[in-house]
Amino acid sequence: MKPNIKNIAVLTSGGDAPGMNACIRAVVRTGIYNGVNMFGVMQGYQGLINNNIIPMDARSVSNIIHLGGTILKTARCLEFKTEEGMEIAFNHLKEREIDGLVVIGGDGTFTGAQRFGKKFGIRVMGVPGTIDNDLYGSDFTLGYDTAINTVIEAIDKIRDTADSHDRLFFIEVMGRDSGCIALRSAISSGAEAVLLPERETSLDELINQLEIGAKTKKSSSIVIVSEGHKAGGAYDVAKKVKERFNHYDTKVTILGHLQRGGSPSSFDRILGSRLGYAAVNELLSGNSMQMVGLFGNEIKATSIDEALTGHNFKLESDLLEMTKVLSI
Ligand code: F6P
Repeated sequence: MKPNIKNIAVLTSGGDAPGMNACIRAVVRTGIYNGVNMFGVMQGYQGLINNNIIPMDARSVSNIIHLGGTILKTARCLEFKTEEGMEIAFNHLKEREIDGLVVIGGDGTFTGAQRFGKKFGIRVMGVPGTIDNDLYGSDFTLGYDTAINTVIEAIDKIRDTADSHDRLFFIEVMGRDSGCIALRSAISSGAEAVLLPERETSLDELINQLEIGAKTKKSSSIVIVSEGHKAGGAYDVAKKVKERFNHYDTKVTILGHLQRGGSPSSFDRILGSRLGYAAVNELLSGNSMQMVGLFGNEIKATSIDEALTGHNFKLESDLLEMTKVLSI
């Protein structure tokens, strides 16, 4: 039997990601279309604790589909990790008779949702929103496509100047535990090498790769370094290469948080819309403690437990090998 859900709240938590606004819009409008009262929680779990919960209607989400960031703001909330914090948060939902919660975020957000849902029995539905693409249960997370496009736009510009000066650039991209952004942007920008958190690349291996290019008269080289790479960030790697080969004219660029901003791509707007729509429909059908995700071209739900543990960060070694071959 379908539950009689009257009030649903939505929040964004952890690192923001382009497409979150498209998703908030879809959540709010799908709820209203189905006769549910909708609420937005400001600043993620912090807003639940601070009682910063606002009613939302169809017009609250007008003209936001194209905006980066999140209109609901976001935060990484330590207090929500405590029993007391969760209790306060739950009481604020109870006061408003909120019986469903949609959380949009990454692994930290889902870890919070998992504990919260299990402790208080509130119906929770997750949407994978992180540029890192590091959750099991969705081929793509919200914001990942836009982030790669932002990264390659920047690398294309760096390539122009690298080429003009015959330089070797080390470009650091985001991805604490996941090399998804690094690998995809290396392929799409024609980078000469890529260093990932999932694989150790020795200095010799990297230098060999660069020397192949030097011998065949490449005018510039670009090495993408994922921030989670075990041997250090772009500055460390550039220093080590320079110590061994002083003839390289090396430069370093850290792309940093610009990768998280900007107007979402069409892909992320559509994904955000589909996931938000599906999240509310799943709650209305009686499902809970799940995450909606994209498999091929279908939206399916995976349990939050599995979403958190199923990802083994398997390296796509075929893509890595291809990157190497195509960069000669
Ligand atoms: O959103 C994920 C992520 O971008 C990681 O790739 C990065 O390590 C982290 O967030 C940085 O987050 P912040 O600086 O906002 O705490």
